[in-house]
Parts: sequence; structure tokens; C-alpha cells
Amino acid sequence: MSDLKEKYKKDNIAWDQCAETYETQIVGGHPDIYAFENFEEDFLDRLLLYLIEKQVRPIKIMDLGCGSGRLHIRYGAKTVDNQELQKYNKLKELKKTHPELAYDSQLFKGLSEVWGIDFSSRMIALARKKIKETQLDQAHTVPLTLDQGSAFELEAEPEDVLPVAVNLVNSICVMQGPQGAKELFKSMKRAVEKAGGIAIISNYQREYIESYGIGQYESTLDVSGHPWWMVPDTYASSEYRFFPKHYIRAYTKDPQLHVDVFDQEGNLVKENHVLKRDPERTREVVETGHIRTHTDYESHWYSFKQMNDWIETYWKDSGETYHFKTSRLDRLRAEPAQMSILDSGDHLKDLFTRWKLV
Ligand SMILES: C[S@@+](CC[C@H](N)C(=O)[O-])C[C@H]1O[C@@H](n2cnc3c(N)ncnc32)[C@H](O)[C@@H]1O
Repeated sequence: MSDLKEKYKKDNIAWDQCAETYETQIVGGHPDIYAFENFEEDFLDRLLLYLIEKQVRPIKIMDLGCGSGRLHIRYGAKTVDNQELQKYNKLKELKKTHPELAYDSQLFKGLSEVWGIDFSSRMIALARKKIKETQLDQAHTVPLTLDQGSAFELEAEPEDVLPVAVNLVNSICVMQGPQGAKELFKSMKRAVEKAGGIAIISNYQREYIESYGIGQYESTLDVSGHPWWMVPDTYASSEYRFFPKHYIRAYTKDPQLHVDVFDQEGNLVKENHVLKRDPERTREVVETGHIRTHTDYESHWYSFKQMNDWIETYWKDSGETYHFKTSRLDRLRAEPAQMSILDSGDHLKDLFTRWKLV
């Protein structure tokens, strides 16, 4: 089996195992990640509204590594009008606490589909469950579709839609290392180029792994496992489950993490276990951008230069490209990240000029 195939298999198992905790600890959890996700969603809203105003073609959102369907819930909810909403109590409740999900007639008019793909069947099942629980499966929304499969094997989209393919919240970094990242660049280009569509990769910069990254993995160790650089490693195996008592926020110096440790049957093994950073190992993580845990989870944070090189190699000949630090748009919510964009139909120049990105 090739190296990439092996990694794919290993990562697939790891993501199936952490699907449910990812949902509570990351999607609705760590405040710095949540803030960044909110930034991504606002960015995408603005971009879609701009394209809808400008375009004659309906837009198909393609969410690669869609996880539990964050965009499906968002654009599903935003395309149910207020009259229709009266029939669905659960959806009504959701919208009450989330004003950002208010009906948007422009999006309803301009979106043809929200499609997502993820290799984890548990993630896809979770996305379907959330769609059902929020009654979006019954309401009249833009079509919400999901497939289990690889993000590396996309085919060219038909030209009657404008495909907008996205890979959000650092997903490229968990897609089977640099080999997988290159496959993702190629696959996204294949999907959008012929139809003159747009590909967007949104990920953290390796330059921020010390200030933002390692603290995020430490305080979500119940999702991805005991970080390799934290000591003591007494309970660092899949026999134990951890419940962190707090989140480690960006720029915290030399933090200590307090966790409760349970066995797999749910019995408390140690209360308030304290974990610290091993300086040598921490330095190695900061230098390489390679996150590892004692279970099989891996992530690679890519530098600004690395992403730039991949844009040059894989996208440059296929249309306009953009690469920027997201702090240029929002320093509070998006300081550590970057966006790489292929705009194969040259749709975005005016918008990005207005935003002073070009
Ligand atoms: C960081 S999560 C992001 C989830 C979602 N996009 C969100 O914003 O909440 C990354 C997702 O990528 C999926 N994944 C990793 N490698 C993949 C691959 N090669 N093909 C498809 N999905 C993959 C994982 O199962 C996981 O759900």
C-alpha cells in the first residue's frame, strides 16, 4: 500500500474515533477556534453575497472535509423563510439563539446546493443527525447533500453552476501530511477550473503554532489524544479518557493543564491531574509544525511560504490566485491564519480591491 493510502486509512480511523468529541470541544468549544470559525463564516457570507449580486449562475458550495456539517446547518437555516419557519419548532429555537442564522433571501435565490464530503462515516452520520435534529431535512431549504469519501478525488463540476469549493478551519493540516495537501490542491483545481469556479483553503500559519496552536491541542486532548510533548505521560494511552477542566487561550505562557482522568468504563482514575510542557519536545513541535499525540492523531501546520509554493506549483496557471494573512481582515478573530484562493473565473478582483487585499 502506498504511503498516502496508509496515512489515509490511519487518519480515517482516528477521525471516526474522535467525531463526537470534535463536535463538542472544537466546533462548539475552544473560544479561539470558535472565533476563527465565526470569522470564516462571515467571510464566506460576504463572498457569496458579492458573487450572487454579480453572477447569473447559481452557486454550489462544496465543503471538503465537511465534518459535522457546519456549513450545511448554517446555509440550511439561512434559507428557510420566516413563514416556513413557523412549522418547525426546533429550527425556530435554533434561530432564536443564533441571529446570524436569520433568513437571507439573497442566499436562497443564489445558492443551488450545499454539498459536503468527508472520509469519516461517523462525521457524515453526525452531520445527517444534526440536519434531522434541526428539522432542516423537512424544511424548504437550499438542497443539503453529503457524501462519504475522499477530498482528493473530485471531478470537474458542470458549467451550469459556479462551484465554490472550501476547505476550512485548518482541515488541510489533518489531510495526510504534505502528500495529502498536494492532492487537495490538485483536486480542488480539478473541481472548479472548467466551470470558472473558486477554491478556498483556510488554515493556520505554522508561524503561530507556539502562540495559538499547541495550547489548542493541549486543552482539546479529549479530541485528539494526549499531546506527545506533555508530561507526565502516565496515562498517555487509549486506555484512558481525559476531561480538560479549562481551555488554554492564545499567548498563555508556560501553561499547566488540569485534567480528570477516567478509564474506558467511565471510572475516575485521577482527579485534577496536572500536565506540563516538556521544553525539548515543545521546541521540536514549534520548529517542525508537526503535531502528534500518543494516539494516532497527526496535524501539520504549514507556513505562509509553504502555502505560497503550493499555490505557485498547482494553481498559478489556472486563473487568478490570492494568498493573504487573514489578520489583514480581522486581527481579533483571525490573527493566526491564512487564506489561499484560486479564482479561475476572475470574479473576486473588485471585492478584494475593496477589502484592500490587492
Ligand atoms: C478540522 S475537521 C473540519 C470539519 C469542518 N470542515 C468544520 O469546519 O467544522 C477536518 C475534517 O476533515 C476530514 N478529513 C481528513 N482527511 C480527509 C480526506 N482525505 N478526505 C475527506 N475528509 C478528510 C476529517 O474527517 C474531519 O472531519
